[in-house]
Amino acid sequence: MTNIKFFSGEQIPLEMHKVRIVQKLTLPPIERRLEAITEAGNNTFLLKNRDVFLDMLTDSGTNAMSDRQQAAMLIADDSYAGSETFIRLESRLKELFGKKYFLPTHQGRACENIISQALVKPGSVVPMNYHFTTTQSHINLNGGKVEEVITDAALETTSDNPFKGNIDIDKLNGVIETNGEDKIAFVRMEAGTNLIGGQPFSLENLSQVRKVCDKYGLILVLDASLLADNLYFIKTREEKCKSMSIREITLKIASLSDVIYFSGRKLGCARGGGICTSDKKLFEKMREFIPLYEGFLTYGGMSVREMEAMAVGLEETMDEDMISQGPKFIEFMTNELAKKGVPVITPAGGLGCHLNAMEFVNHIPQNEYPAGALAVALYIISGIRGMERGTLSEQRNPDGSEKLANMELVRLAMPRRVFTLSQVKFAVDRITWLHENRKTIEGLKFVEEPKILRFFFGRLKPVSNWQEKLVKQFKKDFGDSL
Ligand code: F0G
Repeated sequence: MTNIKFFSGEQIPLEMHKVRIVQKLTLPPIERRLEAITEAGNNTFLLKNRDVFLDMLTDSGTNAMSDRQQAAMLIADDSYAGSETFIRLESRLKELFGKKYFLPTHQGRACENIISQALVKPGSVVPMNYHFTTTQSHINLNGGKVEEVITDAALETTSDNPFKGNIDIDKLNGVIETNGEDKIAFVRMEAGTNLIGGQPFSLENLSQVRKVCDKYGLILVLDASLLADNLYFIKTREEKCKSMSIREITLKIASLSDVIYFSGRKLGCARGGGICTSDKKLFEKMREFIPLYEGFLTYGGMSVREMEAMAVGLEETMDEDMISQGPKFIEFMTNELAKKGVPVITPAGGLGCHLNAMEFVNHIPQNEYPAGALAVALYIISGIRGMERGTLSEQRNPDGSEKLANMELVRLAMPRRVFTLSQVKFAVDRITWLHENRKTIEGLKFVEEPKILRFFFGRLKPVSNWQEKLVKQFKKDFGDSL
């Protein structure tokens, strides 16, 4: 990795790319922002991008492409079957992961649908470090249930544990013994564990999980959607891996996994997804679903242009300068906020900076969605769109009661190579103001609540007129400033 010291001693991340295409941004006045979030049912997913200044909702499909990725799109080979584009993407994946077979899908959750349909039966159990929303829904839809076997350290919000995404081996053994190995559909390891703050697993831990899978004859499935960040953390935080190249670490991780699936909206900085395996029987079983749900076997619902961009993006993921950009910006933002006393998840992970709403707005009860309310408040006072990752992102229990989340987070995603350091500093400034004025924020309640994945399109309203009060306070402190 490029090592650059500053004469001033200052520690700031330095971009190892230059910007050659730009998109104009606008910051609407606070009155419009209040109107926009009301129209959006107090759900940041339902905001229109024209009302958003910094879109930190997600890094999914929003990473900046490189010039080489854009160039590759021009040579895409359009054909329903047997396109050269597919062959190029397939051979890139074979080279990086060393797996014999590749099944293309339109995005990550499509892989989850196929893997779950192939392996999960009613009564199945799937142990994993932590669930992801769509993963859990697909497992549940097929009659299975998720068992999280993450280490206790993972749920400590402030920590210096470098690998909070690790599986607790004793807990994993326990779940297998309790349920019997016949009931275990597969063991799932998620790279860059999304819902607990983009936290990585270590290579050492993955090796131990592999041993458990071997002992019981279980399939190990890797969700590699956030692998790029996890690779960077293994390289920089795991002593034994410091001398390994990113390519070597990737191959090692892949060799320990039976099935690798990914969202190409994250890994590879394009849009699409795919499943890789060397298990012929499993490949044949999963293959049947591709033409049914995705498209023909050589495009799986993806555009050939995106496939070309993905093939180049995957290769660029082996470049340490490229994969360090996200984590370094996230670390900068997290540390700046922590210095100002704002509760954030530490150590900084991948994916984005995570505000700890449980503490930030500890006066809001969990059934009034503190993280949802904080995400809405942040949008109103800054035009920054984040994402609720807490109770609102959970599904109710079968008896209709709220399933209170372990963590209440507002995720401020850092799409790679998209934002500049001054934009990040603006975010830090506004979040710090909001923290000082946090007592004004109150909760939300549902007006329309979908049964499945309610956070995507549910509509809510504030429990009181706290939003008008927040606008007043903002105007008092900032005057005419946007
Ligand atoms: N697995 C992980 C770890 C993810 O983060 C995602 C998507 C998926 C699977 C599903 O992939 O979106 O291509 O269907 N995460 C996005 C996010 C939605 O915003 O974090 P997908």
